[in-house]
Amino acid sequence: MNRPTKSDPASAPALDRGVPPAALAAARDLVRAARIEYGGRPVGTAAAAGDGEDLNYRECFTRDFAVSAAASFAQGETAMAADFVRLLSRLQARERRLDCFEPGAGLMPASFGVERSGDDEALVADFGQRAIGSVAPVDAALWWLLTLRAYGRASGDGALAEDPGVRSAIERVLELYLAPRFEMTPALLVPDGAYAIDRRMGVYGHPLDVQVLFFAALRAARELLPAQHPLHEPLTQRLALLGHHVRTHYWLDAERLNVIYRYGVEEFGAGRANRYNVYADTIPTWVMRWMQQGGGYFVGNLGPARMDFRFFSIGNLLAVTSGLSTPAQTRVVLDTIAAHRDQLWGQMPMKLVFPAVKGRPWRSTTGSDPKNAAWSYHNGGSWPWLVWLLAGAARRGSAGDVDRVRSALGPAAARLHRDGWPEYYDGPFGGLLGRRARLRQTWTAAGVVAAEALLRDPDAEDPFGFDPDPDLEARIASLDERRDDQRDDRRDAVAGHLTLS
Ligand code: GLC
Repeated sequence: MNRPTKSDPASAPALDRGVPPAALAAARDLVRAARIEYGGRPVGTAAAAGDGEDLNYRECFTRDFAVSAAASFAQGETAMAADFVRLLSRLQARERRLDCFEPGAGLMPASFGVERSGDDEALVADFGQRAIGSVAPVDAALWWLLTLRAYGRASGDGALAEDPGVRSAIERVLELYLAPRFEMTPALLVPDGAYAIDRRMGVYGHPLDVQVLFFAALRAARELLPAQHPLHEPLTQRLALLGHHVRTHYWLDAERLNVIYRYGVEEFGAGRANRYNVYADTIPTWVMRWMQQGGGYFVGNLGPARMDFRFFSIGNLLAVTSGLSTPAQTRVVLDTIAAHRDQLWGQMPMKLVFPAVKGRPWRSTTGSDPKNAAWSYHNGGSWPWLVWLLAGAARRGSAGDVDRVRSALGPAAARLHRDGWPEYYDGPFGGLLGRRARLRQTWTAAGVVAAEALLRDPDAEDPFGFDPDPDLEARIASLDERRDDQRDDRRDAVAGHLTLS
């Protein structure tokens, strides 16, 4: 992998623009102050350390905790993450349910809290039953797997993953996520708002963010389970198919764009080129402009007659850090982010999604959600915790990529400190404190602590990062050789045979 060498003295000015010590100290204090205790031990962090009026922000969100864990690891603290991992194994839904009013086996909660009355304390977990819009936490178990693996790398303690309770929890997650349902591809079919974007935003079906998270979590599980475990081979198969699928079909660059632009439509049967029946009319002008400048990225979603061209940061950044993108794709994604820095970073790295959906499409996409007005919150708002993923991705590039992010982190941290660690920023350039942003938001502070550590020493191990896996790469390459069309031919042949007999 093309890791940058440590910054040489010539780039020292970039270090001078680093995170102000007072901001870093305040961020660390905030993450510490957000700790939630259970049984006398810290087991998680509240989403916000302020006295937010929304009770659920006092709970520990599974996804947010991954960032807190990264911040803790950066400070050499690993015990809280281990307790979090054990606690979530206990909270995970265990029973197979057919009534569908209770979470099914394997699901992990979006959040949990500790209720106290006198000396008693009780855990409450939310699997989406209480959440605004009753959204399903599809990503929770995936972040949990990533946190468990990162804990092992940060602490050197491989025994936690072998603990019988934790091992069973891993197995239940895999049984749930690998079970065949209605997917016609290796991608995971999910409802809207099933992850960090937990409001209606048109991220249903096969959103990139969830697919890449799934890929990363399967890579984690592949490391956490022994090779002879019965789930090891099925998960590796899915991993290879998923990696191949996203690399091939979600990837967009100038060449692919021109192929899509000239696609035939309404094709039927084997050998069709436009397998999702995408119409060229749906290509937005900004995409033509971006691709004309030689960029490339993974599109936001793919399904029948649907290529969601929006740029989603979680998916694109995590594709880089998880090794889903090929080295060539990694280079192009990092170059694209650098070239469109004004739009994607602006004054606060980084936008969750670009561009915002406006006007009538905003009505249908968000359900007229004022919180997700154009250039606000999930709809084109900037989320400072993403600087953690941005820093991890930059380390996969050149020293220049690292310096670029480093020089943005300093001013961003100073502003966050001044503004009281808001949850998000608004506006096309991320310069406005979010209209309804909560302050003292834990993952905002944790993101700065974790990013600062990743950039301070780009050679130090990133507990959440993945190195290339030659065996997996060989499997993906063998799929490349088989070509998708041949798989289609076989499926059509089977269908034909059934009709005739
Ligand atoms: C909001 C965000 C979600 C986050 C939660 C707690 O619901 O949309 O991504 O996990 O707040 O911070």
